[in-house]
Amino acid sequence: MQFIDTHTHLSDRAFFGEEDSVIHRALRAGVEIMLQPDVDSTERDAMLALCRQYPGILKPMLGLYPGSVKEDWRDEMNLMMQHLDVKPVAIGEIGLDYHYGAEFAAEQKEAFRTQLELAARLGLPVNIHLREATDDFFQILDDCKHLGLVGNLHAFSGSYETFCRLGKYGDWYVGIGGVVTFKKASLAEAVKKIPLDRIVLETDSPYLTPVPYRGKRNDSSYLPVIAEKIASLQGVDIERVAEQTTLNAKTLFNL
Ligand code: NI
Repeated sequence: MQFIDTHTHLSDRAFFGEEDSVIHRALRAGVEIMLQPDVDSTERDAMLALCRQYPGILKPMLGLYPGSVKEDWRDEMNLMMQHLDVKPVAIGEIGLDYHYGAEFAAEQKEAFRTQLELAARLGLPVNIHLREATDDFFQILDDCKHLGLVGNLHAFSGSYETFCRLGKYGDWYVGIGGVVTFKKASLAEAVKKIPLDRIVLETDSPYLTPVPYRGKRNDSSYLPVIAEKIASLQGVDIERVAEQTTLNAKTLFNL
């Protein structure tokens, strides 16, 4: 079985000094490609250096994470733009996040629109981080419909209704991770109904560790645990989940 982790932060501090062993453990678990979302200029060089060390296995995105959008976001964007020659697989992770307050909501929305336009100009998909800003997100997607964007909502934890709403914008996917294994999460109910051909797998590691490993650091080697849970919710075998989600990721990110 082959898996693709469409969102893992291997350059996160949590992996410092252990990147090689974590990557090899993931490869042994069948995770052959690990997409690296961009956050901001504090992490970017480390992320791109790691991708250069593992060509074909680690593939970078470029983007400014909404939590890193402050009054200086245009400077941050300019720093990011200097790296376009790395041939990113997507513009991400970009989006809106009001969880820690909406102080920079206006800047977040402007940075998001600007990066959606960049993705359209470059013909790249987008990897979206969305937290507590669903209405503003769909408002911007409405405004940007003419761009014909494709992408996925990473760490999807929304309802089936939100998934259906997303479907109106074209060829969009949802990234399903460890949250689907959490007992209190309602996501499992939604995943029973979301067609497998709209799902890509992700860990968002080092965060969102799946059950039964909660409390430990997450990494890409746990991706089959997430696939197994989706398989049981959908009443199919894990091979089917591996095959379809791998095809979805290859299609969306042109891998
Ligand atoms: Ni992330």
